[in-house]
Amino acid sequence: MPRNPSCTDCDLCQSASTVCIFGEQRGNGSSPQIMIVGEAPGATEDALGRPFVGKSGDELKRILDRAGIDSYYVTNVVKCFPAGTPEPGHVKACKPYLEEEIKDVQPKYILALGNTAWHRFGRGPITENAGKEIYSAALGCWVFPALHPAAILRAPGRR
Ligand code: URA
Repeated sequence: MPRNPSCTDCDLCQSASTVCIFGEQRGNGSSPQIMIVGEAPGATEDALGRPFVGKSGDELKRILDRAGIDSYYVTNVVKCFPAGTPEPGHVKACKPYLEEEIKDVQPKYILALGNTAWHRFGRGPITENAGKEIYSAALGCWVFPALHPAAILRAPGRR
């Protein structure tokens, strides 16, 4: 997925160091069946220009390692670093990018981390829906809502 450093579809391009951090494939599978969708890049991701390379990324990797998942595509709903929770306008501006990534990757399973990612696919609070997968006929894949790794780091008992 190419970067789009010329994107000006929302105000985040004015503050982000890296404009449009798209997803990347990790592991050795050439076509990953699992797509992991987070909220938005954090400060570390903004500095390095890659998704999930900060503390949340480390926690995500620990969780995936324990589950034996070593090949996946990882991305975010919002592609530029927001200082805080992304606003609805940021999510809306990035919607076509996430749709394009899903079309390209054609995952069998989407792991939606946290409310912002989950609400791209389903309704209700993540705390009530985590672990309750849904089938998306529109996307032709299963969507698994899960707590965001940052929420787990804040309250490790939730792990
Ligand atoms: N880093 C990301 O890339 N996404 C998140 O949702 C959190 C941290």
